[in-house]
Amino acid sequence: MLVACGTDPVAPAPGIEHPYEPVPGDPQRPGDAAQGYDYLVNGGYITCGLPRALYDQVYGPASAADMIPGRTGANATLPYYYGAATSPAGQPVVSGNCLTCHAGRINGALVVGLGANDRDFTMNQAATIGAVGDLVTDPAQHAEWARFNDRMQAIAPYTQMLTVGPNPADNLTAALMAHRDPTTLAWSNTAALELPPAVVAPVDVPPWWRMAKKTTMFYSASGRGDHARIMMAASLLCTDTVAEAQAIDAKFVDVRAWIETLAAPKWPFAVDAARADRGKPLFEQVCAGCHGTYGDKGEYPNQLVLLADVGTDGLLATGTAQFADRFVAWFAASFWGQTSRIETFAGYLAPPLDGIWATAPFFHNGSVPTLAAVLDPAARPASWTRTFDSKDYDQAALGWKFTALDHGQAAEPDAAKRRRIYDTSQPGYGNGGHTFGAELTPDERAAILEYLKTL
Ligand code: HEC
Ligand code: HEC
Repeated sequence: MLVACGTDPVAPAPGIEHPYEPVPGDPQRPGDAAQGYDYLVNGGYITCGLPRALYDQVYGPASAADMIPGRTGANATLPYYYGAATSPAGQPVVSGNCLTCHAGRINGALVVGLGANDRDFTMNQAATIGAVGDLVTDPAQHAEWARFNDRMQAIAPYTQMLTVGPNPADNLTAALMAHRDPTTLAWSNTAALELPPAVVAPVDVPPWWRMAKKTTMFYSASGRGDHARIMMAASLLCTDTVAEAQAIDAKFVDVRAWIETLAAPKWPFAVDAARADRGKPLFEQVCAGCHGTYGDKGEYPNQLVLLADVGTDGLLATGTAQFADRFVAWFAASFWGQTSRIETFAGYLAPPLDGIWATAPFFHNGSVPTLAAVLDPAARPASWTRTFDSKDYDQAALGWKFTALDHGQAAEPDAAKRRRIYDTSQPGYGNGGHTFGAELTPDERAAILEYLKTL
């Protein structure tokens, strides 16, 4: 079969009838990558949060392991996953930032841009914030706390996951849209749109380095048009005026430019070169039609694949969270819709596989703990728990060491243990589909696995 070559459409993979066309890209605004990193870690783009004095009282300075280079001023003592800002009322505040979800550890090292695949969103996110309000005696600070608390309480019921690891960002975005006027961006404690489902579609945060190759954002390639504008949608939590949104947007061209410079981390362990060499032609035969080719002359085809052909869990792709019609319409009518679009598709983009070894667990919902199990559907555990120690990486199976269980969440009486079970029988958590490695021999699968280490 053929693989991506120049501008020719890529031939379908064996057994796939649908001849996929590459997803076209849209022009992007240029920006300054170095300034983008500075803005990302120091910029103060989330302008509500805990009053700084309260934050310091409750949390104190960050541990050295949670500090990242380049942070200055009010950000210098914060852990990487919090950012300092000044609210419109002039109060210093602290809240989560992009790196709350977009930095993670692999093999002990923190990698900015790796999805945080170990965050715990199983508890009520707003409980602590609600509980600390009484500690604030200064009236101006108390008003600032209340402003933040209102938003956190409003979104809390729509952002609770069944298991540690998967991320609620898509549902979170939808809940925020429901509370904002699309034209003025004014916040209202009462939702103007039907809220998203309380059963949250699980999402495994993708690594930022894919954006160097992708023409679109998000698993279903729904993020079209101006990417910088879409990225600053994280400010939907706090940004209450179009003027503030415009000021943040002007800086996000730099953030986007920085994200596009990121490269995948290299596999840090040994590679069996002879085996990887045997894997390369197999990969090019079976996988490259969708995922592209790698190395000097590599071509990435940006191909969307219908659910009917990929067969992975369909919940995220079929109109849930921010991709439901009412939120797509909100987006189109809003400040975001001026330059960008949300387009839905009943399927998923075949992502670039650069640095794929580092991004376990796999698929858009993080339902498969290792690459060995991606390639061998029969080996995928129906229910599993995993290590959360990033040094406890499985070099043979390429992913997180896991324990397969003979029961799902319902049969586990202990709540703390239950929340650590990935139960693929739950809606959105399914681990089926993508059986493209099933016909290979164990030896061929091992060769492809070895080759994947080199991407
Ligand atoms: C609460 C967690 C969370 C926060 C905070 C967050 N993101 Fe994301 N981000 C996600 C998730 C989850 C996805 C994947 C969503 C999907 O594909 O449906 C994503 C997707 C993306 C993508 C697209 C990646 C791809 O391969 O398509 C980019 C770029 C991105 N985020 C940038 C940012 C920036 C910049 C910020 C800060 C302004 C930010 N994100 C804040 C969770 C988060
Ligand atoms: C018909 C197109 C197609 C073929 C052929 C194909 N894939 Fe995929 N692959 C996809 C799509 C689409 C996804 C996204 C599925 C999802 O996230 O639910 C995907 C996801 C993946 C992922 C998970 C990425 C992540 O975000 O966690 C890996 C790893 C992968 N493929 C490897 C392979 C390998 C190796 C082969 C060859 C044995 C292969 N694929 C063949 C379309 C394809």
